[in-house]
Formats: sequence, structure tokens, C-alpha cells
Amino acid sequence: MKISRKQLIEKYIKFFKSKNHKEIQNSPLIPENDPTVLFTTAGMHPLVPFLLGQPHPQGKRLVNIQKCIRTGDIEEVGDKTHHTFFEMMGNWSLGDYWKEQAINLTFEFITKTLKIPKEKLAVTVFKGDKNAEKDTESAKIWEQLEIPKERIAFLDKKENWWGPAGKTGPCGPDTEIFYWSSKEKTPTKFKPEDENWVEIGNNVLMQYLKDEKENYNEAKQKNIDFGGGVERIIAILNNQDDNYQTEIWKPIIKEIEKLSNKKYKENQKEMRIIADHIKASCFILADGITPSNTEQGYVLRRLIRRAIRYARKLNLKNFTTKIAEPIFKIYDDYNNLTKNKKQILEELEKEENRFLETLEKGMKKFEKMTNDNKIDGKEAFLLYQSYGFPIEMTEELTKERKIKLDKKAFQKELQKHQQLSRTATEGKFKSGLADSSNQTTKLHTATHLLAEALRKILKKDIQQRGSNITAERLRFDFNFDRKLTNEELTKIENLVNKKITQCLDVKKQELTVKDAKKQGAQGIFDNKYRQKVNVYSIGDFSKEICAGPHAENISELGKFKITKESSSSAGVRRIKAILE
Ligand code: ALA
Repeated sequence: MKISRKQLIEKYIKFFKSKNHKEIQNSPLIPENDPTVLFTTAGMHPLVPFLLGQPHPQGKRLVNIQKCIRTGDIEEVGDKTHHTFFEMMGNWSLGDYWKEQAINLTFEFITKTLKIPKEKLAVTVFKGDKNAEKDTESAKIWEQLEIPKERIAFLDKKENWWGPAGKTGPCGPDTEIFYWSSKEKTPTKFKPEDENWVEIGNNVLMQYLKDEKENYNEAKQKNIDFGGGVERIIAILNNQDDNYQTEIWKPIIKEIEKLSNKKYKENQKEMRIIADHIKASCFILADGITPSNTEQGYVLRRLIRRAIRYARKLNLKNFTTKIAEPIFKIYDDYNNLTKNKKQILEELEKEENRFLETLEKGMKKFEKMTNDNKIDGKEAFLLYQSYGFPIEMTEELTKERKIKLDKKAFQKELQKHQQLSRTATEGKFKSGLADSSNQTTKLHTATHLLAEALRKILKKDIQQRGSNITAERLRFDFNFDRKLTNEELTKIENLVNKKITQCLDVKKQELTVKDAKKQGAQGIFDNKYRQKVNVYSIGDFSKEICAGPHAENISELGKFKITKESSSSAGVRRIKAILE
């Protein structure tokens, strides 16, 4: 069956809606309620509280398409099937139907709606271990659907278990469906290690909760969590054995061929990496992250810089924005991508220029350093600090040259440097010098005041959707679905300034998430209940879970002024403000 991405998505959603599932939103790539992971890695991720038993406002049967980022195997990207960014088709039963219906629904969708012949399918089920029993029940259900015994493999935890997404939480054995992708006749017996068998999707039978002591406890609510990769299914349905030859990649690859004047056939790995990394970068940028040296910003920086390094192998420069163009066309159903296009392209270009300034010099330096067949900690740190080489890039370069890298020594150098700059900052604080770190700290405290003022003036449930602070200004994104009036902006400004004149103290407490929640702190992360967090209070005006640092007393802040209010993405507004 020839099918486009949009047709596949439509068929999937329609099928599950006809089975009484409600469609839920495609959540942001940056998890809103889970500080333990950087990105949304699966459709179930934003659903954790509901998988744990909290009632979902849309009911017990849900379906959606979820954009995901997986960075665990960035280094595998370059083959036919691995991607950093992908879309997951997901359907869930929250304590509603169980194994039999889940497997039947998946089977019906695959064989009836997508018309994939059952003769080309094979499945795996969990073989059992000390924590959970052998899943003969699922195997029987598959047999009833006429999947022959020889096509059902019982595998261990490494293969047939999913989750939790973070360290703790809902998880369980899964049952996976495979498709025979080769033109050769389908073998009678299923050998899971044969690469021609491609996984289409899996039903996770969520019946355990893993705790911090790594125990698997029976969950009160049994859930079904199905996930299937859009990219793979499109390739299968269109008879392509290389995902990058399908409509969601080909226009990007073509653009790379055109710009580099080289053929995909001869440069597959490089072209796939470039296409993959720039696609993922566009989506991360669309969700409000910009390149930096920490957390999501660092992953984004690594992706862009890795793409640039591979582009260099194809003699390709000033390419990121051109390669991004087809991405906006392929995904024109993503509003935040379309809306933020200008900003995304600007950021890509900025990061590319920034790195190009140092890449050539850095590479020369690197070549010299390799004369003794190793890169020590100080050298790796110099490449990181002065030439902007992410350590993972130096690691890759050393692997390619088959020389040694002392990564541990690099980490030590990095820590030493961070300590030095912290000490320097603290010293400046003591002397009361208004250096840039002092200014960012004040702006950070002002951000908390702003968030609370928004809650008081606009509505109670304002939540942070993104925050970025430079020495000059703060930027705060929050959920609100219309432009703010001038009157509202003035009211917000006045309230923040009024608080500043009250000279309130900023106090830090260390509390468990549970206690922080009890005290009404903002920014609560439900699934790490026992974990201790810092809670910063400003008088009794604001209380937020936050890593700090903050000003000691808000009288230090000066005058708060909003400089801009704009839209950030659908349902999200952005305020920029300064302290004068
Ligand atoms: N959560 C499951 C997965 O990511 C469905 O594969």
C-alpha cells in the first residue's frame, strides 16, 4: 500500500477513535513535569501521572501522535533506521482493556486497516524471570489470531520489557510485532536476530512499578501502552528498506545532494547524519530551546555541531538553513515549527557561524595534538573551551583516528574550571560588584516575581513553559492563549515593582517534592515524590521549586520593566523584561 505520512497518521487516529479512544495533544519535546529527563522519549512520557492512577480528563482510552527525541544512540544515527527525532503512534488503556483487546486492536489495525498480510508477521513475548512470569497468555492470544507457534519467540528482559521512562515508574513486559521486509520468501520459522524482521510496534503490558530500590511492585492500575514508529511503518508500507528514501527524508537528502554536488549513494552515512540532526534541531528550537552548554541546549548544540562536522566532509558550508527548508514543508502540520520558522533559521545560522569560526582552527589544533597518539584531559578541555568542540565530538574524532582520549581527566578539568568560575563569582558577589553573573541572578529572582504576578493578574494556573536569562534580560514563556493588553502589562509590572519596594527576603528550604507540594510550591514533579528539592520563597508572595541561585533580598533588583510581549507558539506567550 502506497501511503503518505499524513494518510498513515489519519488512518491510525481514525481507527482508534472508532474504538472509543480520545485523541490527546502532541506534547512539547521538553517534558513539563519531569526534571529527570531532558526530552520526551515516548508517547507515554507525558502520561505518567495518569498511568499511575490519576484520572485523565479525556477518559481511559487515549490515542495520539507524539514527537519524540532519543539521544541515547546518537552514534547509531547514520544507518537505515535510527533517528534522533521521530514520531510515535501511541494508544493507551488506562486501567481499561487489557492484553486480549490490546493485541486484537493492534492486529486489526495492522492487517485490516494497513492491509499488511499476517503471513509476513511474527511476534515476541516475554519469557519470564524472577520479577515477572512467562507471558503465555499473550502468546495464546497471538495463536488465536493465527500467528503460528514458529513465529512466536519468547525473549528475555533485554528484549521484551519496556520502561520505566526515567529511573522509577510504570513498566512491564511487552509484546512486539515484526514484519518480514525482504523480497525473499518469508521463512517459516521466526529468527528475531535476522535483520529482515523489522519491528513495527509494541504493546507494553504495564503492570509493575519500579521503585528507587529497583524493586518491581505490582501496580494498582494495569495499563496498555502501545507505541509504533511512523518512520518505519511508512518505509515498510512503501516497500523501502531505507527510511531515508521515504517522503519524510528524501527532500532533505535531495537538498544535501544538490548543495554538495555529491551523490547519496556514495555518502549515505554523512547525509543521513546531517539530515537527522538538522531535523531534530529544528524541532528542539521550535520548542523554545537555544544552543547552550547545559541540558537541552547542549544536546541541541551537539546535534548542530555534529551535523556541521559531517558536512565539512562533504565540503558543505553555510548549509543549515537551506537544509531546514524542506523540513518545514514536510511537517507543515506542526504549528510551532511554521510559526517560529524565522527564529529557528536565525538560531541555526548563528550557531553554524559561531562554530565555523573555530572549527578549522580547532581541527588543526586537534591534528597537532594527535602527534603523540593520544588526547589528554587538558587538550580535550582546550578543544572544548577555546574551540567549542563538545567532548562527544572529540571522542568521536579520536575513535575515528583510533587514538586514546582521557575522558575522565577532561571531566576533572571541566570541574576544576567550573569551581574556579564559581569562586570568582562568589568573590564578586561579596564585593558587591554588579558583574554579569550577579545580574543574571537578579533576573532569575525577577522571573519568579513575574511568574507569580502573572498568576495573580491573569489566571491562577499559569505555568512556566520556558525560561532563558542572559546578562541583559529575562525571557519567560507561559501558557496563555491571547495577547496581553497594555493595561494587564502595566498591572503586572506594577505588582512586581511593588513587591520589590517591600524588600522581601528570598529564603531557601530543602524539602521533599511531597512536602513542597503540600506547601503549594510551583513547578511540582509528581513522579519523584521522595526526592529532595530546593524551594525558594520570596516573602509569602512566591514559592517555587528551583535550583537557584537567587538574590538574597529583592530590594537589590532595581526597577522591573517589561520590554516585549509576544506569541511563542500555540497557546504560549513570551515576555521579555529587564531590570533597570
Ligand atoms: N513506550 C513504548 C515504546 O516506547 C511503547 O516503545
